Amino acid sequence: MIHIQEEVARCLLCADAPCGAKVARALRALRFDNRWTAGEIFSELNDAEIEAAEKACIHYDRPIRIAELKKAVVDTGLPVSRDPEELPSLELNFCDIVCENPFFLASSAVCTNYEMVANAFEAGWAGVFYKTICKQDIREVSPRFDAVGKEGTPFVGFRNMEQLSENPYTVDFDILHRLKQNYPTKIVIASIMGQSEEEWIELAKMAEDAGCDAVELNFSCPQMKLSGLGSDIGQSNELILCYTSCIKEAVSIPVIPKMTPNIMSMRAPALACYYAGAHGISAINTIKSITMSHEAEVSEKKTISGYSGKAVKPIALRMIYEMTGDPVIRRAGIEKHMDISGIGGIETWRDALEFIQLGCRNVQVCTAVMQYGYRIIDDLKMGLQHYMKERGITELKKLVGEELKNIVLPSDLDRETMVFPKIDREKCIGCGRCYTSCMDGGHQAITFGDDRKPRIVGTKCVGCHLCRLVCPTHAIGMAHRMPKTK
Ligand SMILES: Cc1cc2nc3c(=O)[nH]c(=O)nc-3n(C[C@H](O)[C@H](O)[C@H](O)COP(=O)(O)O)c2cc1C
Ligand code: SF4
Ligand code: SF4
Repeated sequence: MIHIQEEVARCLLCADAPCGAKVARALRALRFDNRWTAGEIFSELNDAEIEAAEKACIHYDRPIRIAELKKAVVDTGLPVSRDPEELPSLELNFCDIVCENPFFLASSAVCTNYEMVANAFEAGWAGVFYKTICKQDIREVSPRFDAVGKEGTPFVGFRNMEQLSENPYTVDFDILHRLKQNYPTKIVIASIMGQSEEEWIELAKMAEDAGCDAVELNFSCPQMKLSGLGSDIGQSNELILCYTSCIKEAVSIPVIPKMTPNIMSMRAPALACYYAGAHGISAINTIKSITMSHEAEVSEKKTISGYSGKAVKPIALRMIYEMTGDPVIRRAGIEKHMDISGIGGIETWRDALEFIQLGCRNVQVCTAVMQYGYRIIDDLKMGLQHYMKERGITELKKLVGEELKNIVLPSDLDRETMVFPKIDREKCIGCGRCYTSCMDGGHQAITFGDDRKPRIVGTKCVGCHLCRLVCPTHAIGMAHRMPKTK
């Protein structure tokens, strides 16, 4: 038995992979949830090629079980789309700008010079929110990152101490100008941060003069050396209103404030952006955090700084909903006037889809690119296209906001019915994890005897499904929904 996602998560995604370009591409597609492409490549590889790839694998522990992965993927019988021409377009307008796909680099370490952005464009990214440009003297600390892992997964969350671009601001605007000239169909957005109203306006005008398609206002960096900057602005509705409206008056390109998650709710800042005339909002920047790296010296100084990556995605989605689906926002009709660019923990096309289904017309990626490289764009695009094809959806805009109707108030949830867990005896290996969790964190509704077979006690089970979530072999599924017994 092989669990595809777990086995492929072991693959090191090597550069210039010794297992061969085709196998490595198939494994990468699997890792990023794109079984269609993996299936297509695997079906073209014969047994000898797979065996040679497994022998060549340089994994430090044991080779990736490529033959078993191939069998598992081919056995699922997924439809394989061979002709990219048949796949739907990913074009989606954002702030009235035509974008070839919704995938942009987020303003950060992944886009700090011309070559980086050019490489990303060549790889297929539709646009860039370039590293925040400022007139301050930026001096970064070393080291400046920390990763929080769990059970062998090194990057569940990622903390960074980085501030803004270290380039002279004139150099950065020159880079943006050249990028726009050399890649006219790609979307170039300058992220800026001023220290006064005059400076904000000056930088925004320079962005417009450089030919940028829009300007993003960094109201959200959580680790600025000086106070009154970054997330200090995003935490004040008055400052958001003041800076956004003066920049809106000064330039004619779209103005997109980037919001901080370090607040209670996104509703009031979104209203402030709307009343200031913003064309869109980017959210979220990083979440204020502290990590206590085990590798660091005991005496090493730490500071509160930004947390990003997969772990923050649910928080980001909640904040997106507050700007697109919140009843107050919708009553005022604000979501019709401002486009949202979603950020926070996007790694796969499914992550991106979740943001789009909650109303985003654009998504940005930082941490996943830092971890895996620009190449993840292949599976972001292909995965989403295959998903659309399977659902018969020809235009990406049809997916925008389609899940908003399913986000309801706690008072509107069904509390009269329940779903029992159902154990698949074939898949169960008798580890007892479901029993331990149900005993200590559930309702003592699973028995586990000498025969190592878990059994659900119907009279005690409340259908919370903790057991299903902890089962390592995915042996627990769902039975039918039924009325609760009194
Ligand atoms: C190393 C690093 C540097 C960043 N620099 C900036 C920046 O200059 N301007 C900005 O607006 N956001 C910056 N961010 C925040 C990201 O753009 C993004 O909002 C955040 O990381 C969440 O997305 P993610 O989970 O895909 O990383 C930075 C993030 C990281 C990790
Ligand atoms: S050599 Fe092994 S670990 Fe590296 S990409 Fe190939 S299968 Fe993965
Ligand atoms: S956690 Fe899963 S595999 Fe382990 S005993 Fe329970 S059902 Fe079986």
